Amino acid sequence: MSINIGLSEQERQGVTDILNKVLADAYLLLIKTKKYHWDVVGPQFRTLHELWKEHYEALTISIDAVAERVRMLNGYPLGTAEGFLKNASLKEHPGDLPSAQEMVKRLVIDHEQIIRNLRGFVDQTSEEFHDEGTSDFLTGLMEAHEEMAWMLRSFLDGESFESSGTRDKELATNKSA
Ligand SMILES: [Fe+2]
Repeated sequence: MSINIGLSEQERQGVTDILNKVLADAYLLLIKTKKYHWDVVGPQFRTLHELWKEHYEALTISIDAVAERVRMLNGYPLGTAEGFLKNASLKEHPGDLPSAQEMVKRLVIDHEQIIRNLRGFVDQTSEEFHDEGTSDFLTGLMEAHEEMAWMLRSFLDGESFESSGTRDKELATNKSA
């Protein structure tokens, strides 16, 4: 049975292309988050190992929601590693083993890139393709990435505390300015 939900074929195609880009980046981020969950070492092992487990579980759920939204719009979600790599904006770093700090930093950069992409897609799906449903869906997704990025950023900010429990001079100066 043909679909009749008030969006043209062209509009649905535009939206499902965007959703597939979102899906590709989410998959790459899932892989990167899992890899760091496995590889991380150091005094913060438990914190980061657990945090990344929470994040990859949340990403797994949202990946499923993105793919199923493509089907709701009568499209087909990407489902191959090759397709994900071709459509993703994130880059992989094969073969290297960064420090825990560097892992967190890289994931913040990836989440922030996804957030910036989503911010554009929220407008584009609504303004260009008149699909308020997808626009709202992507807004929720963006908020979830904002929360994960905040958790990771807060971890890095905590590293600038001195052993006395006070922040380092640079931060203290910024605060009083
Ligand atoms: Fe695990």
